[in-house]
Amino acid sequence: MPDITRDHVAHAVAAAGIDQAAFRDALSTFASGVTVLTTVDASGQKYGITASSFTSLSIDPPLVLICVARSAYSYAAFEESRHFGISVLHDGQADLATRYAVQGGAKFLDDEYAIDGRTGVPLIRAALTTLLCSTHEVMPGGDHGILIGAVEDVATHAGLPLVNYARELTTVQVGGGSRTHAFGR
Ligand SMILES: Cc1cc2nc3c(=O)[nH]c(=O)nc-3n(C[C@H](O)[C@H](O)[C@H](O)COP(=O)(O)O)c2cc1C
Repeated sequence: MPDITRDHVAHAVAAAGIDQAAFRDALSTFASGVTVLTTVDASGQKYGITASSFTSLSIDPPLVLICVARSAYSYAAFEESRHFGISVLHDGQADLATRYAVQGGAKFLDDEYAIDGRTGVPLIRAALTTLLCSTHEVMPGGDHGILIGAVEDVATHAGLPLVNYARELTTVQVGGGSRTHAFGR
């Protein structure tokens, strides 16, 4: 049996559902990387949002997923996209992450992104990793849409990741520590 602490009681499940603030607090304890999700529409308009809901889904075939809020200005562009890009940010890109998290803001700075020649999708140049995806499926997920991408191209560079933890953008120390466990997956 898990310990039922006072915090758990304070955040107890109400008859109508769980407390939203407690739910958000709980989710914020899950450390994740930070990406910029990008696409382009038929008129050539570029879209980009900061997103940490990126997850690997399948190795063979290579699939990833990322969730986009239906309330996002860019939602329709991602839902209708044929291709999209995911740029995994490094620890020096917190400013960029903050800029792409502004709703409908001017986000793309000229020297910061490159356009994929085949699809027109913008990708963040200096990112740790870029994934170019074709839109495999868009599924409903509550107030978000689940965008599943079939990965068509990847590029990776050395560096440390930007990390989203407890509502702060931070980074990790890799290797050497007593709490570091290597695994072969
Ligand atoms: C660290 C971080 C992670 C985020 N992750 C997501 C996410 O996974 N999905 C999402 O829809 N919004 C996420 N957001 C919020 C969007 O970046 C934000 O709503 C943005 O304004 C959307 O852009 P748009 O409204 O111009 O389309 C995140 C924001 C931050 C700062």
